[in-house]
This record gives sequence, structure tokens and C-alpha cells, in this order.
Amino acid sequence: ESLQREIDRFIIESTEQLEAFRLQFMVRKGSIAELFNQLKNVSPTERPVFGQLLNQLKLSAEKKYDREKKQLDTPSSSTGKKHLDLTLPGRQEYSGSEHPVQKVLGDMKQIFRSMGFTIATGPELERDSYNFDMLNFPANHPARDMQDTFFITRNDGEDNLLLRTHTSPVQIRVMLDEKPPIRVICPGKVYRNEAISARSYCVFHQLEGLYIDKHVSFSDLKATIYSFAKQMFGSTVQLRFRPSFFPFTEPSAEVDVTCYLCGGKGCRVCKKSGWLEILGCGMVHPNVLRNCSIDPDEYSGFAFGMGVDRTALLRYKIDDIRLLFENDVRMLEQFSQ
Ligand code: PHE
Repeated sequence: ESLQREIDRFIIESTEQLEAFRLQFMVRKGSIAELFNQLKNVSPTERPVFGQLLNQLKLSAEKKYDREKKQLDTPSSSTGKKHLDLTLPGRQEYSGSEHPVQKVLGDMKQIFRSMGFTIATGPELERDSYNFDMLNFPANHPARDMQDTFFITRNDGEDNLLLRTHTSPVQIRVMLDEKPPIRVICPGKVYRNEAISARSYCVFHQLEGLYIDKHVSFSDLKATIYSFAKQMFGSTVQLRFRPSFFPFTEPSAEVDVTCYLCGGKGCRVCKKSGWLEILGCGMVHPNVLRNCSIDPDEYSGFAFGMGVDRTALLRYKIDDIRLLFENDVRMLEQFSQ
């Protein structure tokens, strides 16, 4: 028993110690062989038990020897150190992180939530009528060409399915479902059949806003966009409203903010103009309200739609939009804080 304990406690951390172990227990003059020699002095009745114990001892020494030799032979333990160093700092595991687009979307949602907007969603596979007709796009009107569409089914005269080209059809769904006052934002993916480049991709994210109530005016729209932009881009940001056209709003505008890389001085990102376009907006067209059984003489409202991905590119200084959709962990790992 005491010999077994000696075997167990023998520390082997180097080839020298391994050799010492072998000399002590395993050679012909070692301590186990020694006991075997004494076997003849044991009474014949006890001899088998004693012999068995000795064999066990021998086996356990051989096992330990083989195990330790293997350990010492593997390169990682060539220094012979195998004890746990509790003073080493722990290893940090990479546990995934929020995608940059989701971070920006999260900030946008938070700002509008604080202004009393709630979140509405709609399907990405949308009816042609909600994506175009109900939003006052006349049939065969060139306005449809503004958005290159992925059609899923196409039978003339029917309500076909397509991948929504903007989040505006969610406006229609909300207005068909709810009575004013309505105050919602609709974040989500949209699809366009465009040439793919560093600046545009076939799928991207928009955040739509819709506010319908009595006496809503363009100044309410301006105040909302100003408040959003100051919280999103910083209090020194300046805005520029440019007249524009959308079939579903009248009047319509596009909004630019001072480029927040150069602060309006002009740089590569804003193409020396000092401005970056962030959204389209306007007063909801009376035809759109009527299409959703809302009386335009009683109610008015505004809508806006902004891109999310370009803001993510600028904020995180990413120079190619395609990186946002490739799911390469080497890119995603950089956003783990
Ligand atoms: N749907 C428009 C687009 O995708 C943006 C927009 C939304 C404009 C709401 C006006 C009002 O370009």
C-alpha cells in the first residue's frame, strides 16, 4: 500500500524524473522487483493474494510510466510544465455581437419611440397593389420605373406578388387596419433589382414613419425630422429640405444632413458637396388616404422613409455595402463591444 502511494505521488515533469521513476520502480533491482523476491518467504496460503497485489503494483507503475512518457513527448508539454497556473488571466470567448445595421436601427427606433411612435411590420413578399397601386402609383406610369422590382408572379390584371421595393406598403397595411390617430415606424428589409456596387445592393434596410391625425402639417414633419436628426447625428447637424416627387406624398421633399465626416466642408464621401441625403418624405397624398378609407377633409398626415445601411457604413467607416450582407465573422467580430 505504501509503495502504491509512493508511485502515485511521484512527480514526473522532466525526462530526468521519468528516468528516476523507472530506476526506482521498474528495473530488476527496483523496489517492486525487490518485493517479488520476497514472495518465496510468504506462507503458501497468503502467497496468491500477495502475488496478485504485486502484479497490480507493477501494472500501475508501468501505466504511469507510459502515460507520463507520452505527455513529455508531445511538443506542447516539451517544457514539462503541466500544472494549472491560476494567476493567468482567463481566455475571452467570442460570443457573437450585434450587426452594425441592427445597432443603427436600434438607435433610430429608440429615438422615435421616445417621440411616441410604435413599431409596425409587414411582409417582405408583398402584394403589387400595396407596393404600388394603393400608394397612388398609376398603372403603367413611369413612376414604377423609379424602383426596379423583383416580381415573383406576374399575370396582367391580377394582384401579383413581389419583393417590396420600399417599406411604404406597411403604411397601407396600418391605415387599412387602424383608425387615426396613427403614429408608427416600420423598419425592415427592402429589395431592388439594381446593379450591385460598393454603394448599392439588391437588399437593404429602410425605416418608414407615418403620422396621421387632425391638423397635421408640414411643420410637424419638419420638427420631427429635425428632432430625430439632432439626436441621431449630433446637435450641430444642419438639415436641408429639397423639393422632390413621390406618387404617395404631396408636397414631397428629400432631406440632406451636413456630412458628418467633413462637417459640411466637402469630402470624398459626400462628393465634395458637404451634404448627405438621408430620407424622402412628404404629406400623405389625399388619394392614399382615400384608398384606405380615411377622409382627407378630416385627417392629414406625413410620411418619411430613410435608408439605414448607408448610415451604418458612415458611422462605422465601412467602405463597401456588400460587407454588411456577407456574414463574414472577421468583419462582424469587429463590432463586439
Ligand atoms: N418610399 C420612398 C423610397 O423608398 C421613401 C419615402 C417614404 C418618401 C415615405 C416619402 C414618404 O424612396
